[in-house]
Amino acid sequence: MGVQANLDQIFEKALTQGKTIYKNKEALELKWTPPRLIGRDRELEALGQHVSRMIDTQRNISILGTIGCGKTVCVKYVLPRFEKKAQAFGKKVKTIYISCHDVPSTSDILAYILNRLKKPDERKIPNRGWYQAMYVEKLESYAERFDAVIICLDEVDIPVERGYDGVIRTIVETPNTSLVTISNKPNWYEKLDPRIESRLQLRELHFDSYDVPALYSILEDRARIAFKDGIIKFPPGGGQHEGLFNIAKICYDVAGDARSAIELLRASGELLEQGYDTDITPKLIEKARKEVEVAGFVKQIGGLALHQKFLLYAICELAKLAKPTSGKMYVPLSKALQLYKSIAAKKGKEILTDRRLRTYLDQFEMYGFIERKTISEGGRKGRPTYIKPLFDVKKCLEALEES
Ligand SMILES: Nc1ncnc2c1ncn2[C@@H]1O[C@H](COP(=O)(O)OP(=O)(O)O)[C@@H](O)[C@H]1O
Ligand SMILES: [Mg+2]
Repeated sequence: MGVQANLDQIFEKALTQGKTIYKNKEALELKWTPPRLIGRDRELEALGQHVSRMIDTQRNISILGTIGCGKTVCVKYVLPRFEKKAQAFGKKVKTIYISCHDVPSTSDILAYILNRLKKPDERKIPNRGWYQAMYVEKLESYAERFDAVIICLDEVDIPVERGYDGVIRTIVETPNTSLVTISNKPNWYEKLDPRIESRLQLRELHFDSYDVPALYSILEDRARIAFKDGIIKFPPGGGQHEGLFNIAKICYDVAGDARSAIELLRASGELLEQGYDTDITPKLIEKARKEVEVAGFVKQIGGLALHQKFLLYAICELAKLAKPTSGKMYVPLSKALQLYKSIAAKKGKEILTDRRLRTYLDQFEMYGFIERKTISEGGRKGRPTYIKPLFDVKKCLEALEES
């Protein structure tokens, strides 16, 4: 390496000495692209086969698999490589990846696609103010210029759930254009208009969850890139690092999910940085797990409205008092509403009606926060409703206090 290339390293080393344990912290982010994909040979090959046939015939595939099994990362690996290879063989292929999480509505998605297909000197396509037919017509005229257009809708269940399935119809009805969908909900297409579903003729590609060795290798690759040498104490001679192996095993036992494994590695890194321990040990992993869990709650709870937080707080407080041994984990709804009211009053806020609060409870149930039960107690009391929190009450309280 020349002096010039070395200078950067010299400066960086001096500026960061004693301050950071990281060499490349971004490698612990979920969106960071890993240099190699582990344990996905079968999926990559099948995907490659499917995609390469899209040049001759229009065909659509549906990728399914649980969260964190590498669906997104594999598609993002394959599509641009196919586009490049086709180009080298004189074929005009355009591949477009869209995360429907970020761009959920039909017009947003279509405008995004058109802006990727248009020539640089053509006018930008607006995502508002156009009739659907105008997008359809434009897409047809743009797609004609290519041998194949391949569009990937990641998290496709989101627009379908919201009734924006027009985008799927448009893509399927456009000549030269094929669709790759990704979802972790195996039944997402049951919500489609049956006419669209039959046109789609989706072929399915299932991604398995990861086993322990795969999760370990994914973690090891990231750790070696992310941390400075010697921070994670790998045994000499290429043996396995016990802490990383533990993370892999924990995440295998839960769901075989690379996403949670990476999150746990990142949280472990933060604790290492704080000097909690000198390596990733069982004690440190345990603490990191708790922090990830609380952070997950904080994220979910952060999105709740103020009164929803009050109500959740009331449920948690009552559940804390209830003794699980006496079978009283269920909190009486009437008491929860009462406590909510006194919390809201204490905070100087207007008290919401019971009806509003019940719709909040419907939402909590939908999010999987709680379960409701009506228990017949006989007599003239009627059938009171009870609420059972499905989460760790202590952690939820911590998260509520933080949010
Ligand atoms: N086979 C793999 N090799 C390396 N990293 C992977 C692999 N599979 C997943 N990852 C990483 O794990 C995280 C989750 O993967 P992702 O593709 O987003 O999963 P999914 O889309 O199935 O939920 C990402 O940060 C990704 O880079
Ligand atoms: Mg994904």
